Amino acid sequence: MEYLKPMIDEETLKARIQELAVQINNDYKGKNPILICILKGAIYFFTDLTKNINIDCEFDFMRISSYEGEKSTGQIEIKIDLDRNVEGRDLIIVEDIIDTGKSLSGLIKHLEKKKPNSIKLCVLLDKPDRREVHDINPDYTGFIIPNEFVVGYGLDYDEKYRNIPCVNCIIKEKDDDLDNNNINIKSLVNKNNLH
Ligand code: IMP
Ligand code: MG
Repeated sequence: MEYLKPMIDEETLKARIQELAVQINNDYKGKNPILICILKGAIYFFTDLTKNINIDCEFDFMRISSYEGEKSTGQIEIKIDLDRNVEGRDLIIVEDIIDTGKSLSGLIKHLEKKKPNSIKLCVLLDKPDRREVHDINPDYTGFIIPNEFVVGYGLDYDEKYRNIPCVNCIIKEKDDDLDNNNINIKSLVNKNNLH
């Protein structure tokens, strides 16, 4: 049995994401950046963030893979690439989480070859304790979180739980100390009428 323990609720997510959008609006005033949503994990973050962006901007989508289950393979594969020329453009990568940093480091190297004017990194969650690539730092960070595996709000565990509307840690066994905070995944899904 797997249990979810809420870590960041919907209201807190919304408020912090609005703050990030304000920063981006200020930093890119008069520019026309391309916001790149990294599928699949960043979908909710991307939509909530971009609804609060009020400068000229464009959208694009990429899909990379580097992760199997809970372990990083350290390899990055570009599954869906940009399908247009971004030379001279300002790119903002919008990603769900930075963990070891391997995926984003590989992605940035890949995008640099396309000769954009700038590349900035916007992540919802950062787990700095897990970092293995140290020369990579997000320009915009939603929340710094402890070294725990999280799901929901787009993030998955083996493709499950992306549809849960807030960020949760996933625990394999019910922890007596946490008792009432432990939510059985089935009851959470039912409660939100998601299935
Ligand atoms: P990194 O290359 O180790 O930084 O891994 C980044 C990718 O791993 C993210 O885009 C996620 O897809 C996945 N990932 C890392 N930590 C978590 C987590 O706690 N929950 C869900 N996915 C995660
Ligand atoms: Mg991801």
